[in-house]
Amino acid sequence: MSTGTSHPGRDRRVIVVWMVTSVALFLVMVTLGILMRLAQGDVMAITPQTFYALMTMHGLGMAGTLFSAGIAMVWYVAARHARPSRLAMWIAWALFLAGGLALLAATLIGKFAAGWYTLYPLPFLKATWPGWSTGLTIVSLMAMGVGWLVALLDILRALAVEHGIARMFAWDRFGAGAGREAAPAGVLIGAVCAVAGVLGTIVGAASLMMYLFQWFAPATQFDPLLLKNSMFMFGHTIVNVAMYCGIGVVYELMPGFTGRPWKVTKTVAVAWNATLAFILFAYFHHLYMDFAQPVTLHVIGQIASYSSAVPATAVTVFGLGGQLHRSGLRWSFVPAAFTLGILGWVLGGITAVVDSTIAVNLVFHNTLWVPAHFHTYFLVGFVLLLFGFVHHLLGSRAERLAKSGLVVMLTGGYLFVLMFFLGGLWSVPRRFASYQAIPYPDLVAHATRFAAWGAVGGSLFLLGALLYAASLVTGRQPAPDREG
Ligand code: HEM
Repeated sequence: MSTGTSHPGRDRRVIVVWMVTSVALFLVMVTLGILMRLAQGDVMAITPQTFYALMTMHGLGMAGTLFSAGIAMVWYVAARHARPSRLAMWIAWALFLAGGLALLAATLIGKFAAGWYTLYPLPFLKATWPGWSTGLTIVSLMAMGVGWLVALLDILRALAVEHGIARMFAWDRFGAGAGREAAPAGVLIGAVCAVAGVLGTIVGAASLMMYLFQWFAPATQFDPLLLKNSMFMFGHTIVNVAMYCGIGVVYELMPGFTGRPWKVTKTVAVAWNATLAFILFAYFHHLYMDFAQPVTLHVIGQIASYSSAVPATAVTVFGLGGQLHRSGLRWSFVPAAFTLGILGWVLGGITAVVDSTIAVNLVFHNTLWVPAHFHTYFLVGFVLLLFGFVHHLLGSRAERLAKSGLVVMLTGGYLFVLMFFLGGLWSVPRRFASYQAIPYPDLVAHATRFAAWGAVGGSLFLLGALLYAASLVTGRQPAPDREG
């Protein structure tokens, strides 16, 4: 049943271009992150205005870049089992690049600094940045959003045409067709990611239209709680989906290393459909402190947070165990990066679920615990899956250099996130350009020390990522030798 498109070489080119763009932007965003940690560690001076502009660019840039990379990974999987459109993917790439460059201008030149989810009405209230940078940020996010919609809707079309709706979501596992062969696991996860990504992006687009409206007509007023809900539905959903896109690639490619199929059983089907059903409501956990939000929604947020994360994590961990156990696998870079990436995802996920528990969130809310958990599942989770994928895509032969990069990235990455976790345990507040004005000398001393060590960890991670990038260049194979 698996078909794939008729031009694997051209498919590969579009994904290579997406990946080079994503990895390059990612490295720029890491550098901005290190600058922030150096400022918080009192190692270098950055004005608050510049700090918050860097923070906004870093947050939006990371979320946008990694979600874009995730979409390209899902497209790669879809192109092995269906016929998605390359043209749609090139259009989406152009919009992603244009949006990314415009965002760099809005934040680094225009100093737009409202934070990554641009909490309404912050961008319009006594802003320290010029109006054009607010407008440019809104338009650049809309451009990226249109690109994501083009790519994701086309992926869904292609999967539905090739497999049919019931098979692509593995609903056929429960009916009369259960005896027949299931669609590959990568198709199921790709379909889940595409639907959730489309719904999140549509809600984001509607919210951004309201922002744009207010930018043109400043006297307009919208309901801040409604916009907080919709911006979190957008932002939280796309960052979670990015992670799942990476997991989909592991399901797709790991069997190539272990020689065992990764089967879509009934349990796997239920788990990923649960993720699709609940991921859209998990974002309520960001609003626990909003007393105007109905309490029922807080409770739904806690239930949805557990229900979207736990089943998918459990089947993936058991599935990976089944793949690895006595498989005789040779631990080359790709399976090592995939396995360690899943580990980072699980660790970050556990600490996220902890924070989504209402009783715990009362204490951890807006402390460094929050960036700690999502940096864990991204930096030492998704990014390792991404790097494993790119290594595989380019057919890199520089195993030793890539593995050295991996060790340095892990050392730096875990040191970096550990400092955020320690900050969280000490109740260090997040989003402080400098800790010096906090009236508790003991807390200031700890927060500053954690930040300086965090900068060391971040710099080590960057060094490892550069070693990895060098391995891609030195290990490139001539095109004809490569696997599709
Ligand atoms: C070594 C790499 C990285 C470094 C050094 C770094 C550093 C930082 C720092 C210092 C902050 C501000 C923390 C605070 O005080 O609230 C931050 C926030 C943030 N980071 Fe990173 N980060 C890195 C990687 C990542 C990755 C991989 C992602 C992927 C999603 C990411 C997404 C974000 C987001 C969304 C924020 C919140 C921005 C906001 O509050 O508006 N970062 N990062």
